[in-house]
Amino acid sequence: MKILSIVGARPNFMKIKPIYEEFKKRRIEQILIHTGQHYDENMNRVFFEDLELPKPDVFLGIGSGTHGVQTGTMMSRIEEVLSQEKPDLTIVVGDVNSTLAGAISSIKMQIPVAHVESGYRSFDMRMPEEINRILVDRISQFLFAPTEDAVNNLISEGADKKRIFFVGNVMIETLLSHLQKSKISKILDDMSLEKDNYGVLTIHRAENTSDPQKLIEIFNVLKNVESKIIVPLHPRTRKVLCDIGYLDKLGKNIDIIEPLGYLDFLALMSNSKFVMTDSGGIQEEALMLDVPCITLRENTERIVTLKNGANILVGTDGIKLAKAIKDIPNRKIKYPKPPLWDTKVSNRIADTILDHQELLVL
Ligand code: UD1
Repeated sequence: MKILSIVGARPNFMKIKPIYEEFKKRRIEQILIHTGQHYDENMNRVFFEDLELPKPDVFLGIGSGTHGVQTGTMMSRIEEVLSQEKPDLTIVVGDVNSTLAGAISSIKMQIPVAHVESGYRSFDMRMPEEINRILVDRISQFLFAPTEDAVNNLISEGADKKRIFFVGNVMIETLLSHLQKSKISKILDDMSLEKDNYGVLTIHRAENTSDPQKLIEIFNVLKNVESKIIVPLHPRTRKVLCDIGYLDKLGKNIDIIEPLGYLDFLALMSNSKFVMTDSGGIQEEALMLDVPCITLRENTERIVTLKNGANILVGTDGIKLAKAIKDIPNRKIKYPKPPLWDTKVSNRIADTILDHQELLVL
């Protein structure tokens, strides 16, 4: 069997890592394509180093663009690689534009698709990621769901039950197997931070950055918070804050830094008092690390994180955010962990693919 995996953006890299290793262990022939959706050193290369991922076999160098240009360009280039490599299966992970481009190109060439992180739904079609998730799930032959609610979403959309496999959360497998290694990070010393004495903010979603007023509302709340807030800033958000001349006007307690590599970010997050984010994966990682999470979105596809108050949604409402931050000292408990969020997820994925080769026939 020959398996081709496609990655492109930062959150893809930690998801493909254990799957790639698992098939390598089983001596299955593999090809790794990188679309180049993320290309900055600190959004890309540092992750390959931290995760010890092999250099991709094919790097497409697509870069940024409108959704149509980015996705379309990826599709035409991925198609070329697929027609050369002729894999038996394409694996795509998550919900970014590279995921969508990979899935469409593959199925159009009659090559079956496995979608890892299948079934998450925010039910918010304004999010590009929601569109990507729905479309990719609709055309995939293997639907690897991270949670029971994701399975239920797929069933209620009429997906064939024979194709749905509840395997757990592969990004959490990577988290668990890199926690020890993240202790080598010097980030706390370098930034003179004390454990449990600072907050972390990441914000980059289109729905938050397209309206600078939302960013201003969030930062206005944060400048009145006692804790130090560390902000590894996504290039898109940096650009918006620069354009409106706000980057210099943030509070003294707010420390803007470049996006961090995987191990540094893990160390920063696992030692923090609380996390504020609009990312998907960070909501899940915070739950696993027992770090209270405040999500700067109106909804989440990761609804399992809302159980027991591990994560709360505040959107970009300054009053709700201020209240949530004030409430942090009352929230710190050990959160129950979702089933199958463990170190065997990639093993289940590989077993399933090898045991269900009938699904490779379209
Ligand atoms: C993408 C994903 C999002 C994910 C995020 C993680 C889609 C639709 N969105 O959003 O789900 O949470 O990745 O970061 O795929 N840029 C750089 N350098 C880079 C990459 C991007 O400067 O290495 C800047 C460019 O100005 C670009 C902008 O960021 O226009 C947006 O990049 P893009 O890849 O379109 O999407 P993300 O916002 O990163």
